[in-house]
Amino acid sequence: MKTLILTSSMALVSGLMVYPVQAQDAGVKNLMTSSFQSIGIASVDRLDQDETQKACSQLKNGKPQIDSKLQSQIEKNNLKTVVYPADANYLGQWREGEKVAQSGKGSTWTDKSDDVNGGSCYNCHQMDKKEISYGNIGPSLYNYGKLRGTDEAVVKYTWAKLYNAKAFNACSAMPRFGHFKLLTENQLRDLMALLLDPQSPVNQ
Ligand code: HEC
Repeated sequence: MKTLILTSSMALVSGLMVYPVQAQDAGVKNLMTSSFQSIGIASVDRLDQDETQKACSQLKNGKPQIDSKLQSQIEKNNLKTVVYPADANYLGQWREGEKVAQSGKGSTWTDKSDDVNGGSCYNCHQMDKKEISYGNIGPSLYNYGKLRGTDEAVVKYTWAKLYNAKAFNACSAMPRFGHFKLLTENQLRDLMALLLDPQSPVNQ
């Protein structure tokens, strides 16, 4: 139950429809379109699902039902959306990244379109060992850089994962931060530093 509540509130906060709601079901769809209204930047077009969300909303026993061919096609299509930094500068400031990881702010009807969003990373991941409040929907990222190193393949994979998590797992619960412009390129750089910089608390 906790997972459902957290996932669906993340879905509203980040403007994504992830899988708790089977929006394909006509009754559910009617109920949602007739009960929600646009307020500020939180407009009802958030109920419109893209290819990925539609495929991952077909549930059986609460889990997405997706065949392996469609899954890999969706992952390919998501990977194509990834924009890598033009100046090949992937690493920002881990201190700033920690602030982004901690913040779950943004994209609600009381926010403005140019307000800065947070990444809510701690909602789903352990990161700094000193932070005792974190969710476990996602794997622990503690020692991420220390364990994987920082060669080009790791750096590019990590960027792409943050940019569009569905490029590697079609029905991932992780929001598509770059793809939906939830985070800016600089915020992504700062998160990359949080994960990969040897000085970052993640790697202590
Ligand atoms: C709603 C939950 C959720 C949020 C919020 C979230 N993630 Fe994730 N993340 C996941 C899940 C689940 C996985 C593992 C399964 C998958 O890949 O989809 C994952 C995987 C990852 C991975 C890949 C780990 C590996 O072993 O390859 C990285 C890196 C990552 N997340 C970083 C982040 C960062 C940084 C943020 C914040 C900007 C974040 N995540 C926010 C759920 C989340």
